[in-house]
Formats: sequence, C-alpha cells, structure tokens
Amino acid sequence: MGLKRFGVSVPEDLLERFDEIVRKKGYVGRSEAIRDAMRGYISQSKWESEQTGGLATLNIVYQHKPSLMAKLVRTQHNGKAHVISSVHVHATHSHCLEVIVLKGSKKEIENLADEISGISGVEHAKVFTYSIPMETQSDHTH
Ligand code: NI
Repeated sequence: MGLKRFGVSVPEDLLERFDEIVRKKGYVGRSEAIRDAMRGYISQSKWESEQTGGLATLNIVYQHKPSLMAKLVRTQHNGKAHVISSVHVHATHSHCLEVIVLKGSKKEIENLADEISGISGVEHAKVFTYSIPMETQSDHTH
C-alpha cells in the first residue's frame, strides 16, 4: 500500500501538546502517532454511526462479595449482548478485576455495559468498543 503525504495546519499549542505525548509514548516521529490517532478516530466514528455493532470489552473493578458476584453473573446471562468471554482477576483481598468481552449490536452492548456499571459495588467501569467489518469476524478459522 502506497503512502501519501499531506500537509496540515494546526494551532501551535495543539501541536506542542501532541508532540509531548508522542515523545512520552516513545514514537520515533509524528507520522506513526498520527496514523494511530486516525485509525482510532475512524474506528470510533464507525462505532458511533453504525447500528450493526461489533465487539467491546468492559473492564470493571468491584468489591469481592458473594451477593454482588451472583448479581454480576445473573446480569451477564440475561443481557441481550453476548458475553463471549470473561477474565476474572482476584486483584486484592477485597477487590476483583474483570474483563468482559461482548458481542452484539451497539444498543445491546451499551445497555448491558450500562446495567453492569450501575450495579452497586462496581467501583470502576470502562468500555472499549471496536467496529470490525462483519466478514472479518466470521470467515476466519484458527
Ligand atoms: Ni476475585
């Protein structure tokens, strides 16, 4: 795939803030950082505009209590989005970290993520969404 060059005009302070992050993250130059930012922007925009949905991970940190854990499992079973997988980490004596991988429509994923995030005892919740073309989700064996 060929590379195209393009010129961009940006306010000086925006470029300074961008360059500071580029340096901190250890990018060799701006180009790869801009390519990464563009990919993220495209993926996020596609997620916002498409109703077909895709994949998401929901990361939560919650208090280790049997009643709360039972409620989390029940909510995951009852959701319209499919829970493909989850990883449970016993983070400390009192808290658990869980990464839940969800598949479904945008609305189904958002509803389940909101429901889980809103459960009392869930202290941190963050959703990462990915818009992936459907053909690459299914025609794929390994
Ligand atoms: Ni645990």
